[in-house]
Amino acid sequence: MPLKSKITGTGSYVPEKIISNHDLEKKINTSDAWITERTGIKERRVVKAGQTNSDLCLEASRMALQAAGLRPKDLDMIIIATMSGDMPMPSTAAILQRKLGARHAASFDINAACSGFLYGLSVADKFIRTGASRKLLLVGAEVNSRFLDWKDRSTCVLFGDGAGAVVLEPTKGKSGVLSTQLHSDGNLWDYICLPGGGSENPPSAKTIKNRMHFIRMKGNETFKIAVRTLERLVISTLEEHNVETSELAMLIPHQANLRIINATAKRLKLPMSRVAVNVDKYGNTSSASVPIALDEVVREGRIKKGDYVLLEAFGSGLTWGSALIKW
Ligand code: ACO
Repeated sequence: MPLKSKITGTGSYVPEKIISNHDLEKKINTSDAWITERTGIKERRVVKAGQTNSDLCLEASRMALQAAGLRPKDLDMIIIATMSGDMPMPSTAAILQRKLGARHAASFDINAACSGFLYGLSVADKFIRTGASRKLLLVGAEVNSRFLDWKDRSTCVLFGDGAGAVVLEPTKGKSGVLSTQLHSDGNLWDYICLPGGGSENPPSAKTIKNRMHFIRMKGNETFKIAVRTLERLVISTLEEHNVETSELAMLIPHQANLRIINATAKRLKLPMSRVAVNVDKYGNTSSASVPIALDEVVREGRIKKGDYVLLEAFGSGLTWGSALIKW
């Protein structure tokens, strides 16, 4: 039997501070009714002053390691999927390595925006299948709140902060990550972007004045592509493995918008009881959303050994990806 990777522990963490739709009503020209109806979001979590991306990763990682029964020094690799790391250099994974005391691990970050966790899972899976890693920590984590224009109602109501982590180990059994699918269309990179702060537009008085250090999104255009693309993606992922929707125990979608999640579930004819939803509580936590939702359903006992679990995400790049797991 060839090696597969298996998730042996999950964890998640969201900051304590809550910003509700009603809080936002007091600051910008929006309403709880609009946000709820258009997105399904009721509130989101944001970091407090001084709290960093790697701090969120640390909490989620400790939970995942505990669930897997491992110590930090057992890890041989740490991968963080993020677009809002502590700093451009070094990687947030290296900073987390120090905070955890995971001295035997290699560490690096991956950026595929909201699809980051799926990209990270695909990379992690390859390391494990080839035998190059045996104890791997994968985290999806974002501090989106520091990259939001809190005057722009079209973006600031959508995003939140948080982290989700999984430990992956090799298995020769039937369970594990069956396959991952990754896609992107760089022609549409400007649909969702953060144009300032990189080497094209390094920080300057001009980039600050032009509000280039904040997330920009063509929301409506992205929405239409996301719905179409995700519908195709989930169908093709199940078809690849001859898995019927009736056999799917749980869909764990990226949490960007409840209307997108509902459309995907409808396309699959999947009852919402078999779909993980937490966008109401956390908003869009980008690469953290899938692993946070996964950790929640695991801890709620909603998936059991042998179940098929489908993960999917869509985001800036544009990027999209899926993973089919036999739990
Ligand atoms: N409150 C009140 N009104 C608002 C708000 C707000 N917060 N935001 C926008 N509006 C207004 C607009 O100005 C517009 O008004 P107009 O008709 O007078 O011009 C109206 O509401 C409709 O705006 P749309 O943008 O067309 O609204 P839509 O129904 O498309 O919802 C949303 C917007 C929620 C952003 C949706 O398009 C969406 O979810 N898009 C996909 C997001 C996504 O999946 N992104 C990928 C992941 S993100 C990443 O990778 C970083």
